[in-house]
Amino acid sequence: MLNIGLLGCGRISQVHAASITAHPRAVLAAVSDPIEESAAAVGERFGTRYTTDVESLVEDPEIDAVVIASPTPTHVDLLTRAVEAGKWVLCEKPIDLDVARVDACRERIGDLTDKVMIGFNRRFDPTFADIHARVAAGRLGTLEQLVIISRDPAPPPAAYVAASGGLFKDMTIHDFDMARFFLGDVTAVSATGTNLVSPEIAEAGDIDGAVVVLRGSTGAVCTITNSRRCAFGYDQRLEAFGELGMFTAENQLPTSTRFSGADATEVAAPYLNFFLDRYMPAYAAEIDAFVTAIEEGRPFSPSFEDGRAALVLAEAAQQSLRTGAVVDVPA
Ligand SMILES: NC(=O)c1ccc[n+]([C@@H]2O[C@H](COP(=O)([O-])OP(=O)(O)OC[C@H]3O[C@@H](n4cnc5c(N)ncnc54)[C@H](O)[C@@H]3O)[C@@H](O)[C@H]2O)c1
Repeated sequence: MLNIGLLGCGRISQVHAASITAHPRAVLAAVSDPIEESAAAVGERFGTRYTTDVESLVEDPEIDAVVIASPTPTHVDLLTRAVEAGKWVLCEKPIDLDVARVDACRERIGDLTDKVMIGFNRRFDPTFADIHARVAAGRLGTLEQLVIISRDPAPPPAAYVAASGGLFKDMTIHDFDMARFFLGDVTAVSATGTNLVSPEIAEAGDIDGAVVVLRGSTGAVCTITNSRRCAFGYDQRLEAFGELGMFTAENQLPTSTRFSGADATEVAAPYLNFFLDRYMPAYAAEIDAFVTAIEEGRPFSPSFEDGRAALVLAEAAQQSLRTGAVVDVPA
């Protein structure tokens, strides 16, 4: 059994707490949050001990691995302490908001980066993973084009936006990872952004929509379309196109029930709303991949380097947005 400690007891941590508790070969050994009420709520809900002393949990000899689900600016410090204390780490995305800080961390911990997996949960979505496996097996021949559409149902609160690092590092970061998952290394990025959704986001100096074009080292291209608002719910689609055909991943519904009447046909319920519903199976599969990789001594995927590479693309997109130029990405 793998004893896992949880750092941070907010929104996403509760999903991880549920997946760890349900996993047959993992134990939620303890949870921690500087806010006692938050630590107690998650500890009591999942029947495990809790503490406000986050560092004590990182040092705890009874804990084999930690899941870092605290705010992004705390990730690098916590993962450094955790790997130096001998723990395996599953760290939420993004790894940080600044590539220079990630590089300083990499310099300090060296090979201990191998002990870190990054929480790009979408790689574990059953549909995306299925398409990825079929593309990797050659079903499309050469992959030529990838289309990723990711739109949130509604914009986040202004306070969230102010601390988020901006659309590319907060939201598109998942899509940058998905692009790399399919295309491998990306060599060039161009991005354009819009402010058509939320005046608060514009006031915070951020964009609320974007289209990004990525060129892969194989010559394949990827477009990413993002919006912070979508009238019909959480829009998560993907298209992989190649020599021999195309795979598509469509939006998901809670049931297959349809209504047909005098004024409409084939009316369905709204799509699964937002990430906690849409990606629930992916979060559970992510925890399973973390536990299984540790048991079998296999490298983590997505790795520390994958976390860094997605952040490099976010910074390149930011530069392209600012300058209007296509930005080359160093190998
Ligand atoms: N993979 C995904 O789909 C996904 C979804 C949501 C959030 N996230 C990421 O997860 C992280 C947390 O996001 P959230 O939405 O759950 O935030 P949240 O604000 O709901 O929760 C964060 C919790 O961490 C606690 N905290 C603050 N400082 C801490 C510290 N030093 N050590 C431990 N805990 C600390 C806070 O008190 C809070 O309870 C962010 O990095 C975010 O980008 C990932």
